[in-house]
Amino acid sequence: MLISMRQLLDHAAEHGYGLPAFNVNNMEQIQAIMQAADATDSPVIMQGSAGARSYAGEAFLRHLILAALEMYPHLPIVMHQDHGSEPSVCLRSIQSGFSSVMMDGSLMPDMKTPSTYEYNVEVTKQVVAMAHAGGVSVEGELGCLGSLESGMAGEEDGSGAEGKLSHDQLLTDPEQAADFVKKTSVDALAIAIGTSHGAYKFTRPPTGDILAINRVKEIHARIPDTHLVMHGSSSVPQDWLKIINSYGGDMGQTYGVPVEEIVEGIKHGVRKINIDTDLRMASTGSIRKFLHENPAVFDPRKFLKEATKGMTSICKARYEAFGCAGMA
Ligand code: G3H
Ligand code: 13P
Ligand code: NA
Ligand code: ZN
Repeated sequence: MLISMRQLLDHAAEHGYGLPAFNVNNMEQIQAIMQAADATDSPVIMQGSAGARSYAGEAFLRHLILAALEMYPHLPIVMHQDHGSEPSVCLRSIQSGFSSVMMDGSLMPDMKTPSTYEYNVEVTKQVVAMAHAGGVSVEGELGCLGSLESGMAGEEDGSGAEGKLSHDQLLTDPEQAADFVKKTSVDALAIAIGTSHGAYKFTRPPTGDILAINRVKEIHARIPDTHLVMHGSSSVPQDWLKIINSYGGDMGQTYGVPVEEIVEGIKHGVRKINIDTDLRMASTGSIRKFLHENPAVFDPRKFLKEATKGMTSICKARYEAFGCAGMA
């Protein structure tokens, strides 16, 4: 059944688990997520980015998620709009039936220029007023995603600031977070702790100076009742990186957010963990390997099925590690 983000995150807080929120763009990703959720009895968050909506078309994306609801009526599913660039974007999603929206007011509508705090409060408040009137949840974001190593936002294709960010912008301030939640009444708050979108997050396995899990603890201590969200939380599995590069791929050496660090965050208020890159890598690795080993195959169902399998294994592992298995 379709449920709001608030309902699900309240349940997660009550039972001390976290939810992977997977980005979806096509049928295979949705099937992989649903097969993994069904096998592990986990609740589901699927989210569509602006890129996903322009790739598939909003109606296709929405109806694919509706198909999941129809096929798995026993599983709670949140249909979330990721990174709304302005209130009008969120309003359209609310009207078309999403049960949760993100207003990313940490950036201006171009999604490249960091905003002022006052602007962020104002647009987020506007979206909360519209969404809550219809029982739809709202995620806000305070602080800009980006690397504490380089000061840069990360991959071009995600939403991210252009140019160098200061240390202050890259780490959410606990006091300001408390003020933000009080002024906006958001249901969930995305925080900046050194993660960034895409595969190239860290040039080495991250330590506390570049992945600030301590900051999660400080924010949670200040606002213990607020559900925290970690963006840019793919783990960039080294085994998939190796498979991609062994079968014709050429990705650079890179590291993501270790699952153990996310689990530590979950102990301190993190309830929603955004994951896109890991499924992209599993999908690409599976297809590269399969086509290399089966060069005569030309039926896309054969290699897409492999992609689904690869993605399902990641989804299952995250459902289990984050403690949501058995919680549906
Ligand atoms: O928000 C970041 C997600 O990874 C979505 O990326 O805009 O390429 O769909 P995308
Ligand atoms: P990754 O790029 O780490 O998968 O993060 C996705 C994300 O934060 C989507 O909002
Ligand atoms: Na989001
Ligand atoms: Zn994000």
